[in-house]
Amino acid sequence: MANLVNIKIDGKNIQAPEGKNLMLVARENGIFIPSLCYYEHIEPPLGTCRTCTCKINGKYGPACTEKVHEGLTVEVDSAELIDTRKALVEMMFAEGNHICPACEKSGNCDLQHMGYELGIAVTRFPHLFKDRIIDYKPSRMVMEHNRCIKCKRCVEEVFTDDGKRVFNYMNRGNETFVGVDYIQEAKLSEAQAINAMKICPTGAIIVRGVSMTAPFGDREFDQQSTQQKKVLKKPTLNRPAITEKKIIATVSLAGCFGCHMSMLDIDTELLDVIELVSFDKSPLTDFKQFTTRCHIGLVEGGCCNSENVETLRKFREHCDILVALGECSVWGGLPSMRNSIPLSECLEEAYLNSVTNEPGGNIIPYHEDLPKILDRVYACNEIVKIDYYIPGCPPSANHIWKAVKNLLWGEEYSILYSEFKYD
Ligand code: SF4
Ligand code: SF4
Ligand code: FES
Repeated sequence: MANLVNIKIDGKNIQAPEGKNLMLVARENGIFIPSLCYYEHIEPPLGTCRTCTCKINGKYGPACTEKVHEGLTVEVDSAELIDTRKALVEMMFAEGNHICPACEKSGNCDLQHMGYELGIAVTRFPHLFKDRIIDYKPSRMVMEHNRCIKCKRCVEEVFTDDGKRVFNYMNRGNETFVGVDYIQEAKLSEAQAINAMKICPTGAIIVRGVSMTAPFGDREFDQQSTQQKKVLKKPTLNRPAITEKKIIATVSLAGCFGCHMSMLDIDTELLDVIELVSFDKSPLTDFKQFTTRCHIGLVEGGCCNSENVETLRKFREHCDILVALGECSVWGGLPSMRNSIPLSECLEEAYLNSVTNEPGGNIIPYHEDLPKILDRVYACNEIVKIDYYIPGCPPSANHIWKAVKNLLWGEEYSILYSEFKYD
């Protein structure tokens, strides 16, 4: 019997037989490390997918290729590692062409399942949209190269009775694909072919005439996660439960109203938003005064005059959460271009040197009721405490509402590159 060694996973002291695979030790101790290529009886482990990346003795590495030894320290559950693993799986989705609703493996697919486990709704990477072939030449199988993640399981696990490989890596680097030896493939029995289909963690290997379909609810990953060994919640619509409508206030200070136009650009989700929130003081309602305390205030534009400052202070006073929306609000934006020029010169240029057709109209306006122009344009956080910032000029509608729903109901979200770019 192997010696017991003392290791630590996420601060938990664990005793395990020396040399045992770290993935297995973690699983047996109720610690979930996501994996895709790991297959218990492939030795040495493949280590191809990196989905199991952890910090092992302070260094990043795959847990599935690690054997436990005295003093091993492993970090699994940090925000950084969770995001790294998520990014790796997102890359797999972006690299292939995965259309789950039309895929024979949907519901029984490890990759799809891992997407759910890691909370992937969208991928942050641009899709490659490769035009890969679907190989119908094998006699028993169909090889769907668009779904292969090159995990190498089939290469290492599928053999004919006389010990010949059926699958092999072909080409190199980015051009690598899993080729089928048609002669060897034809030698497989029906059961061996079905086993190959099951070994594949995606829907890349399909056996002709064998259906993987099962009603929703009966598929492998519908009810439980085999990796986490826990019952999953029934899928629910990705929207917060409405207990009470949240109240939003919005304002445009020294801005162009573009952020407000963007807010309205939300398309079909606008109906959801209307169900979830009501607007108080806002140009959208034309309420000039606050009628109640608001859960969230969205402020477009910075402060260029005394009225902006007064309005912003009122928003801080009446809103639980205050969000600077758009570049002008975040740092001053376009109006702050005047900050490098003395105010007197700006006024002279605008009112004294500009052309007017009104005789005697070349004057700098002054009246005690007019808001006083500030010496420069101020970002909102220079005047009051801002809780959150949504940059962009303007930020996209989806970005705004995803952020608002997250702040109001804690709803998780991913921002697409297209929703978060500044150009
Ligand atoms: S292989 Fe898996 S992830 Fe890809 S399309 Fe099929 S079910 Fe979806
Ligand atoms: S065909 Fe399936 S098992 Fe083989 S490398 Fe691709 S994803 Fe892995
Ligand atoms: S599961 Fe460890 S590298 Fe794939």
